[in-house]
Amino acid sequence: MMILSLPKPGFGTFKIPDDGTAEASVREALKAGYRHIDTAAVYANEAGVGRAVAEWPRQEIFLTSKLWNTERGYDSALRAFDKSLSLLGTDYLDLYLIHWPANRKQFGDKAPKINADSWRALERLYREGRIKAIGLSNFEQHHIEELDWTAEIAPMVDQVELHPGFSRAGLREFCAKRDILVECWSPLQRGKAMVDPTLLEMGGRYGKTPAQLIIRWCIELGTVPLVKSTHAERIRENLEVFDFALADADRDAITAMEGGRLYTDPDQAEF
Ligand SMILES: NC(=O)c1ccc[n+]([C@@H]2O[C@H](COP(=O)([O-])OP(=O)(O)OC[C@H]3O[C@@H](n4cnc5c(N)ncnc54)[C@H](OP(=O)(O)O)[C@@H]3O)[C@@H](O)[C@H]2O)c1
Repeated sequence: MMILSLPKPGFGTFKIPDDGTAEASVREALKAGYRHIDTAAVYANEAGVGRAVAEWPRQEIFLTSKLWNTERGYDSALRAFDKSLSLLGTDYLDLYLIHWPANRKQFGDKAPKINADSWRALERLYREGRIKAIGLSNFEQHHIEELDWTAEIAPMVDQVELHPGFSRAGLREFCAKRDILVECWSPLQRGKAMVDPTLLEMGGRYGKTPAQLIIRWCIELGTVPLVKSTHAERIRENLEVFDFALADADRDAITAMEGGRLYTDPDQAEF
């Protein structure tokens, strides 16, 4: 299987409320040139996202949504997918992900079966042509290996927390060997990276902001950054990453930055 190719960066919509803001932000992003929009059932903004996407020829947009944790399992995943499609006002998705693996902390030895059942639903929808690509989110290597026990179609994407300080060399290598495309969530550390002195100094040398530096770094790593903003200026700024390249030493320095996971560990999640 060839590794999936999709528009970079993607526009993220986590925490953008569906009070007109999601619609306006996605409209702004599409106007600025993004062609890849990432949402999820749990973001509760699929309706607004869908209204903005509907203003464009559908085939020009790469649209992702995700199966929420309360809808895991075969039948419930099929129903959840239909609901997402209906809210988004479209008849197919470009990518659909299992948002979080069921983990042993919550589900004990039943966890792999729950993930397998959800995956079987995604495989069916993929075979029916209602999803163009299927994948995972927040799956660590061991979750993916457990999926192997039953999967008939290999996952095409793993969307995970990845940013300076948490560059995931091991998982990236594992995914590369399997042609699984890695997408990075919270690449900007939800804004925290904007005040990092190392990134500010390095960005100064390129005439780029920390956000632009990080987005470029993700792309040079072969990953797909998903970046969220509700501000038109930042939405545009975050696309201006194709007129420079990082020197090897700078790319390596960002990759080597120390830090660690900032958000939920998938094996510890209790939601
Ligand atoms: N699969 C998962 O479990 C999962 C989890 C989290 C996120 N995601 C996806 O990944 C996307 C990105 O992650 P994220 O939203 O958590 O965080 P992020 O994109 O790393 O950071 C977003 C934050 O950075 C600020 N920001 C954006 N561009 C900026 C710039 N140029 N200068 C200064 N500040 C800037 C935004 O503020 P303003 O909006 O105020 O501009 C916002 O507060 C999400 O939206 C979602 O689609 C997936």
